[in-house]
Amino acid sequence: MDILTDAEKLADLDADALRRLVGLVEHDDSADPFPVTGWDAVVWVVGNAVQTAQLFQAVYGMELVAYSGPETGNRDHHSYVLRSGAIRFEVRGAVDPDSPLADHHRRHGDGVADIALEVPDVDRCIAHARTAGATVLIEPHDVSDEHGTVRTAAIATYGETRHTLVDRSRYTGPHLPGHVARSSTVVRPEGAPRRLFQALDHVVGNVEYGRMDSWVDFYHRIMGFTNMAEFIGDDIATDYSALMSKVVASGNHRVKFPLNEPSPGARRSQIDEFLDFHRGPGVQHLALATNDILTTVDVLRSRGVEFLDTPAAYYEDPELRARIGQVRVPISELQSRGILVDRDEDGYLLQIFTKPFGDRPTVFFEFIERHGSLGFGKGNFKALFEAIEREQERRGNV
Ligand SMILES: [Fe+2]
Repeated sequence: MDILTDAEKLADLDADALRRLVGLVEHDDSADPFPVTGWDAVVWVVGNAVQTAQLFQAVYGMELVAYSGPETGNRDHHSYVLRSGAIRFEVRGAVDPDSPLADHHRRHGDGVADIALEVPDVDRCIAHARTAGATVLIEPHDVSDEHGTVRTAAIATYGETRHTLVDRSRYTGPHLPGHVARSSTVVRPEGAPRRLFQALDHVVGNVEYGRMDSWVDFYHRIMGFTNMAEFIGDDIATDYSALMSKVVASGNHRVKFPLNEPSPGARRSQIDEFLDFHRGPGVQHLALATNDILTTVDVLRSRGVEFLDTPAAYYEDPELRARIGQVRVPISELQSRGILVDRDEDGYLLQIFTKPFGDRPTVFFEFIERHGSLGFGKGNFKALFEAIEREQERRGNV
């Protein structure tokens, strides 16, 4: 069975690589009420799309592939489409001061407005979602240009976030009708890796206090997702805060959504801080899968990306050392870079988290290198949250 998306084929990924990178499994779409092929694009709304697109190219090593803006007849906003492996980001920023994107940015700051998903049958998904009680924001319709036709629609999810559904099986253009092909003018430095990450592993949503289970139920009921793992209460409590987290996934596990809610702690948790500064629920982090996290971190750090510090105690703690066991590099290589390790019955994973992407303490990135483990770093949550809380304290938001 051909289980690869066009974006994955274009990125020279194969099924084995995807099993390893993101835990892809085979799945029969025929019995699925809402079949999802995979990620289509992560749509950002930012205060300055011109510079964010430059940043994603020059620092994160992504490739510019398409553009829409005043020169192409879109007088409302700029839209830059960037790729790294199978990942597609679309970055939008208002040109017209009256653009709805300017208001969106005023409310939420730089962040993710839309987690667009590729589906084989938009109408079937929307029919099911509507019956199951979803808010349909955009009805199924065709958009066409000289490259063919895209069928698309959109449903609402947590906060002001949406899922645009895209069937691009009859389309050969660079992104969507209205966009033109555009390539990077940024020159990759000699010896730099071709790309720093290959695939999107998971996208985490922070939701309102007490609403996690209803959002888990939303993904079950509306989109036929199933539970992957569950972390509750004590698992991820620190002295100051706690949160609850559950993970839902599409049938093929390509799309994975951990959902967090704050739980009452002695002080204001990082999820509360997010909800305050984002003005409600939204995307907390994007986990980008890499097959060489050491190089990824070295290159990003050399280009100025800041990561969360990991306390030396993390690597020296005997209990943790014993649990980590043997990994592909000496622990000192991980320690010098602040990379975290987690292990479960299936294997291990290496991961690291950046500081917030924009001005507000909201969305950030994770880089993840999986070796069998299909988890999300549960064993690291405590160490990670303590590091986040140190940052939060420095921002005066505890
Ligand atoms: Fe994560």
